[in-house]
Amino acid sequence: MSHEDLSEYGLTVLDSVGDGVIVINREGAVTLMNPAAEEMTGRSRRQVLGSCFVDTFVAEPVLVEMVGRTASSGVSLSDQDNVVLCPTGRVMPVNATTFPLLRPDGEAIGVILTLRDLTSIRELEAAVRQADRLSTLGTLAAGLAHEVKNPLGGIKGAAQLLERELDSDSELLEYPRVMIKEAERIDKIIRQLLELASPRGPRYQPVNLHMVLGDIMLLQREAAGSREVSVTTAFDPSIPPIMADEAQLTQVFLNLIRNALEAMSEGGRLTVSSRVLAEYQLARNESISRMVAVEVSDTGPGISVENLAKVGTPFFSTKDGGTGLGVAICQKIVAEHRGMLKIDSKPGQGTRITVLLPLIQSPAKG
Ligand SMILES: Nc1ncnc2c1ncn2[C@@H]1O[C@H](COP(=O)(O)OP(=O)(O)OP(=O)(O)O)[C@@H](O)[C@H]1O
Ligand SMILES: [Mg+2]
Repeated sequence: MSHEDLSEYGLTVLDSVGDGVIVINREGAVTLMNPAAEEMTGRSRRQVLGSCFVDTFVAEPVLVEMVGRTASSGVSLSDQDNVVLCPTGRVMPVNATTFPLLRPDGEAIGVILTLRDLTSIRELEAAVRQADRLSTLGTLAAGLAHEVKNPLGGIKGAAQLLERELDSDSELLEYPRVMIKEAERIDKIIRQLLELASPRGPRYQPVNLHMVLGDIMLLQREAAGSREVSVTTAFDPSIPPIMADEAQLTQVFLNLIRNALEAMSEGGRLTVSSRVLAEYQLARNESISRMVAVEVSDTGPGISVENLAKVGTPFFSTKDGGTGLGVAICQKIVAEHRGMLKIDSKPGQGTRITVLLPLIQSPAKG
């Protein structure tokens, strides 16, 4: 059986399958390969068809072993964890499954290998792990914040009294002022920690994303003031109001846009865009739903590979006076909205943060 033996209809079916399909005959030669398999393995059909599977895929020992075992035993195998293909240098987690190819009379005449891209599932799993870490931290933080808040109020109050007691030209005035300023800083950290730890979920109402983004940009543009940052927006006007918590989403986009501007203290370009992703499936067993993607991109210095893994971990900050809670809060809010936050960054090439939110419209409107 090879490409020539298949009807045009059969070939069209094979080419339209989203999973990669490779068929190997009894002699170990590749007889069929669909476009999805070409894309996932980074090898073209022309290179592979007719070649010996073991030689062509020598760099993927797990696949070679699975195909060999199915060929000799006739047993179907599946591997979720180990198989990672690297076309164009990208590491792609895949689920590989082998089936014996059987003639109607039951004789094994080859092996079928299917490959399924698990990238989005792995991303989702990472988001879930992050949420787990946060919930442990949350319980701890809530307790700590509660204990610290009252004495902190006392310190600030006493410093304010002291400030008032001192003569307005006293050299000592500087001290209570530092105390007040630093107490306010601790208070801000605690408020953010509580936000991170709070169990309150989103309060859903129809939200016009573009209005939220527009308001934030207006405010931030003024804050950016004289800085040489140009701002571009590209909104998809067809996006309807979505069911979300407006205050929480405002916080998300404010944090992300502020980070972008802070990354461009030397100037640059801020781009905020929105679009609808049709048929985005977060997990295989979840129904397919439409998602809205909001992207905040900057042309700042980007994030090093080493730091990229740490962004979003509470208290990770590279800034003087940064609390390192901004992105963690964003991740929490987005996850509670059943969405996803993705960070793409290359040192020297800027940063792009994508917020994916389910496009759920108000039930009243149907
Ligand atoms: N757009 C960006 N460009 C470069 N680095 C970024 C960007 N966004 C986040 N980071 C990195 O991630 C870190 C964590 O960001 P996060 O918003 O959580 O905290 P922060 O900005 O440092 O403090 P805070 O938000 O409380 O002021 C930052 O310190 C920075 O190193
Ligand atoms: Mg920040």
